[in-house]
Amino acid sequence: MPQHIVGNWKMHGTSRDLGELAALAAAGPIAHAALAVCVPATLLSRASLVLSASAVALGGQDCHAEPAGAHTGDVSAEMLVDAGARLVILGHSERRLRHGETDADVRAKVQAAWRAGLCALVCIGETEAERTAGRTLPVVLGQLAASVPGGPPAGRLMLAYEPVWAIGTGRTPSGAEIADVHAAIAARLPPGVPLLYGGSVKPENAREILAVSHVDGALVGGASLKAADFLAIAQAARHHEGP
Ligand code: PGA
Repeated sequence: MPQHIVGNWKMHGTSRDLGELAALAAAGPIAHAALAVCVPATLLSRASLVLSASAVALGGQDCHAEPAGAHTGDVSAEMLVDAGARLVILGHSERRLRHGETDADVRAKVQAAWRAGLCALVCIGETEAERTAGRTLPVVLGQLAASVPGGPPAGRLMLAYEPVWAIGTGRTPSGAEIADVHAAIAARLPPGVPLLYGGSVKPENAREILAVSHVDGALVGGASLKAADFLAIAQAARHHEGP
């Protein structure tokens, strides 16, 4: 199976940056890697034109639980689909921590994504204080149980384990630490649901991280903004037996 290499542009990118997506499209298929990029909502329509003839999938970074309504500033899953998205990141720690999103909110958004036909990429992960207190597994498994509904439609769910303290910091857990958490999560996932690692994945550490057991891919923030770095990470993908 390929490993899923998903870029998360966060609140970066204007029309000037569409050339990075063109460079991804021009690179053609990469062995053992399935690529996707989640851009700001403002770029989705133009990004979908740039990526239309490529194998690179396009995603959003959040959605509202309702299909439409009086929700100023929000974007629905149906709108993401209309703009060309095939997946959506949900429950990223930046939204859980800075926008007060609860597990129940995330769960409702996952259901919205499925209603609209999107693949939901749900993020879970512990803070540094939780890890120091030895609570990593209960926190992560609690988020998994409460924010991911059962019975995902085939191909419509991916998980990302993202330790909050590893996001944008240049610090990563050891391979053994990632393996421990991934094994515990994988044991609770339905068969065929890919489990990605995220948090300071760079070209320099991608090979080591993507070789860890139960790591079915990577969710890449800062290093996804430049096509050369993102492609270097994708080139570290390996054939593996997982989902
Ligand atoms: P980072 O972000 O790669 O910049 O650490 C990852 C993420 O937040 O998804």
